[in-house]
Amino acid sequence: MYKNHSKSIVGYLLSFALLISFILYPNTLFAASADEGKKLVDKKCVSCHRFEGEAKSRFDLRAPDLMWGGNKYQVSWLTDFLQGQEEPLYQKNYRWDQSRKPKKHLVLSKADSRSIAKYFAKNLMDSRVKKGALDLSHFTEMEATLGEQIFKEHSCSACHQIDEEGKRVGGQQSTSFVNAGKRYNVDWVYRFNSHPPDFAPHSGEFVADVSQEGLRFVTGYIMTLGVNDFKFYEPWKDKFFKKASTQRGKLIYKEYCSQCHGATGQGDGPAATDLKPKPAVHAKMALDKEPTDYLYNVIYYGGKAVGKSPFMPYWGLTLKPQGVADVIAYMKDTFKGPALQAKVELKKGSDQPGLCPQVRKTPQAPGDILKLKNPLEPSKKNIRKGKLYFTQKAKPLACKHCHGMKGNGKGPKAFNMVPPPRNFTCASTMKDLTDGQMFWIIKNGSPNTEMQAYNTMKDNNIWRMILYIRQFIQ
Ligand code: HEC
Ligand code: HEC
Ligand code: HEC
Ligand code: HEC
Repeated sequence: MYKNHSKSIVGYLLSFALLISFILYPNTLFAASADEGKKLVDKKCVSCHRFEGEAKSRFDLRAPDLMWGGNKYQVSWLTDFLQGQEEPLYQKNYRWDQSRKPKKHLVLSKADSRSIAKYFAKNLMDSRVKKGALDLSHFTEMEATLGEQIFKEHSCSACHQIDEEGKRVGGQQSTSFVNAGKRYNVDWVYRFNSHPPDFAPHSGEFVADVSQEGLRFVTGYIMTLGVNDFKFYEPWKDKFFKKASTQRGKLIYKEYCSQCHGATGQGDGPAATDLKPKPAVHAKMALDKEPTDYLYNVIYYGGKAVGKSPFMPYWGLTLKPQGVADVIAYMKDTFKGPALQAKVELKKGSDQPGLCPQVRKTPQAPGDILKLKNPLEPSKKNIRKGKLYFTQKAKPLACKHCHGMKGNGKGPKAFNMVPPPRNFTCASTMKDLTDGQMFWIIKNGSPNTEMQAYNTMKDNNIWRMILYIRQFIQ
């Protein structure tokens, strides 16, 4: 009894001493564990990986170099990977030798994985990688879309696989980018992308002809892969938008926009004469009702980015976000819809929005697609999702702005539109529209009309919108 008591006093004193030492030297625990990590690395990893030295060709290595392991990976990914909880990164084997099957990676305990992660964070930091070089808190959804385009147009998917709607697409020569957003630290990827041979010389790596801005887009895009709730920056919700000035905007309009759109928004600026399509006639548009995010995107990133003509330039680099906010404030204040007379003229024509029956001159989808039936069930969930895209989420512009909240083809943007948007409430016109036809037009647009291609949307979301569109007749 006496003995036990003394033991507990000793134990108590010991833990008290430990506690004090952690308060005085908070790094003790960390250091101990990082040292543990170092021991593990020396024992279990150096036979395959290098932890110091210059970058070398993959042909001279057994496994990827890890001297920048401290700023390359997110800790959570690294510890999961070391516990064998991640997919292999090189489907075709790192060593590129087709005769060998990729071997399962060595698996560690949770505690050992953590020690190694700590060792990485303490010792394997590459000073070329600047912290905060790419600020993802200011990365917009449009920038991710532009990054995806670069990824596809500059061959990245030829060597790095990604996941598209559950399917693996692209070549497998190099590392997979499935869930890459959960694996990498953004600053490392950004530095890597600036000059890949600094990290993987003579390994089949590829230097792309992409601008600094483009590198930002493609790097940010990679960082969205596998991250379902990625929080995109929405400039139109930022403080500076509330401070936008119509006065400053008026001047910007005069100095930059009127050369095409005309001094009073009639689309008759000196540059307009030879353009086809013509610059938009702002004076006839209800810009006060147009969604601000859309206006921001078309002005900041240009016509091409939202599926319109590249004759509408991208102004972001010239005007900066504040300038774009200012010119939007001016335009919303000035252009509030068609003059009464224009409305009256329109009412007489057969192109009046919302007419039924509505004449269709839309090109027909190819035979096999025309016959396609909607592969999705008209479940409540699918229809609800379809509605969400129709009314809000479809990019670059939600359908309701032209087709109307009620699907009658009389959205705020439909004024003066020739041909007018389809009236989905008109049974006699809609009976000729197969699921496949709608799918085709939504995916590819109807050339020379305002119905543009929604080609970055996932197929299933297009089918969900079609389920929703069918609800307008019942
Ligand atoms: C038998 C050789 C071998 C040993 C031993 C080994 N690895 Fe690996 N490691 C590889 C190979 C090969 C890959 C590429 C794996 C793939 O395709 O997923 C790899 C991948 C990795 C990666 C991801 C690299 C990348 O692509 O960015 C990390 C991190 C890693 N190993 C850490 C470790 C650590 C830490 C140890 C020691 C505890 C270790 N490895 C032991 C062969 C080895
Ligand atoms: C011809 C094949 C090829 C193309 C095309 C290619 N890459 Fe790579 N990529 C590589 C190779 C090889 C490596 C080095 C790693 C390795 O040995 O697999 C690499 C590595 C990377 C890495 C570092 C990955 C890691 O975990 O170490 C990133 C990021 C990257 N590439 C981005 C891109 C981007 C962005 C593009 C398009 C602009 C692109 N790659 C195009 C072959 C390619
Ligand atoms: C070089 C000529 C040119 C200049 C300069 C120009 N635009 Fe445009 N803009 C166009 C053209 C052409 C279109 C029509 C694009 C289309 O229909 O595909 C257009 C369309 C638009 C639209 C309508 C998009 C829609 O959905 O209908 C807005 C808004 C717009 N421009 C704003 C601006 C602002 C703001 C400026 C000045 C900062 C500006 N534009 C400067 C050529 C120009
Ligand atoms: C900027 C205006 C505008 C927006 C936004 C728009 N549409 Fe349209 N849509 C039109 C116009 C105009 C037509 C008529 C085209 C024609 O006559 O060929 C049309 C036609 C259609 C048709 C009929 C195709 C046919 O063969 O008759 C469908 C289906 C359609 N749109 C679906 C959509 C969906 C879904 C969205 C949103 C993802 C959308 N539209 C967004 C303007 C728009």
